[in-house]
Amino acid sequence: MPQSPDHISHSDHFDHSDHSDPAHRIGPTDSTDSTDSTDSTDSTEPTTPTTPTTPTEPTAPAEPRYFPEPRGACPFAPAPAYERAREEEPVSRVPLRDGSRPWMVTRHADVRTVLTDRRFGADARRAGFPFPFAARAFVLQGEPPFVRMDGEEHAAQRRMVTRHFTARRTEELRPRIQEITDRVLDELVAAGPDADLVRDFALPVPSLVICHLLGVPYAQHAFFQERSRALVDHTATPEQTAEGWRELVEYLERLAQDKLREPDDSIVSDLVNKEWLEPAKAAAMARVLLVGGHETSANMAALAVLALLRHPDQLALLQERPELLPGAVGELLRYVTVVGDPGLPRVAVEDATVGGQPIRAGEGVLCMLPVANRDPEVFPAGATLDVTADARGHLAFGAGPHQCLGRPLAQLELEIMIGSLFRRLPGLRLAVPFEDLRYRERALIHGPLELPVRW
Ligand code: HEM
Repeated sequence: MPQSPDHISHSDHFDHSDHSDPAHRIGPTDSTDSTDSTDSTDSTEPTTPTTPTTPTEPTAPAEPRYFPEPRGACPFAPAPAYERAREEEPVSRVPLRDGSRPWMVTRHADVRTVLTDRRFGADARRAGFPFPFAARAFVLQGEPPFVRMDGEEHAAQRRMVTRHFTARRTEELRPRIQEITDRVLDELVAAGPDADLVRDFALPVPSLVICHLLGVPYAQHAFFQERSRALVDHTATPEQTAEGWRELVEYLERLAQDKLREPDDSIVSDLVNKEWLEPAKAAAMARVLLVGGHETSANMAALAVLALLRHPDQLALLQERPELLPGAVGELLRYVTVVGDPGLPRVAVEDATVGGQPIRAGEGVLCMLPVANRDPEVFPAGATLDVTADARGHLAFGAGPHQCLGRPLAQLELEIMIGSLFRRLPGLRLAVPFEDLRYRERALIHGPLELPVRW
């Protein structure tokens, strides 16, 4: 998806995609290329890139190749080169386009350590903080979102919205999320007998849920949804994306002004009336929540549905025993891990040792959630999907002070979305060959661009 500098500057967690050429990518060493591998467990790909040439054709100079490597042919598994790194060199340096070489951390225990240990920080303004995609200058325009702050500055901003995301508050939302899901499914079925499940289901449900939480009046849902959909439209130009963001932030600021006049129990109302934020600051905070909670849940829902369609035995089990669904959501989150292909970025603020490797203060670290979530030390059958497995301890939501604020909400959305979809359309199937599906490349959040289905 094309991204504007503006987009990146405000949403680095969430600094979704690369501006650079997707052809340039690399694994932990400069000599691996696994773009043509076939499966997460496949380790047969060549160790040197091979470019077919003829004796008469001059060979183009080798392009430099940068981290991160894309996933291989299996869209649920991390790049095979990084799975190998977990076994062979679990803390290794990777080259970024800006010339830096942060540490890539791949084992479950080591990733947990980095995310929970105060000797590693998430403040993007610190020297050495790694930027796998965006140029540092873009990300550091203005104040970073609180996911890229540390200590009391981070905690104070997180506290402003925490009460809207507790497990209890989330459970109270169950009937509303069910109602939204049913309505979206009604429209999808009415327009059938086929659909793009990303556009017609996975994106609108989380977007409408956030609308509700932020306090967007029902009459303005269509405007809001149209704008938030434009932000994840992979065919949009960077200018269109930037324009979409501008309109949305202006809208959120007007919404904050309305809530000053007419308070309610929404997040935006609380930010201006209880936290005393200026409308512009409240709009910026609302934007962080929108970015954090929209694309993540949408891509996760789409990839989870695809994973179940590819594992009909697991889907059948869930259809027979719906009580397995809450646990299955955890296993699906682990198995496909949509956030973190380029690693969650951190910087060492003190010298530390991770997995036996000394890391000096000021060195960048990238925590590879998808790789850690298949670590056989913790998940013995890590490369298989088993909806009855105990996936507790998975790192799909990160860990430590920045662990996903929306975790209970995301889990509930997924439970309701997946359950309702397969109850309503038990014969759902892909409308195109699995091999023809295309995925987001070099994006912080992984997922299919489209998911054509019929029923
Ligand atoms: C399946 C869906 C989701 C996944 C996989 C996911 C994943 C993550 C991850 C990995 C982080 C940690 C980032 C870091 O440490 O650098 C995070 C943070 C965050 N997420 Fe989510 N997320 C999801 C849904 C949501 C939802 C629904 C919301 C709510 C609106 C949300 C809001 C946030 C916020 C605000 C943070 C920053 C927390 C902080 O820094 O204190 N996320 N998410």
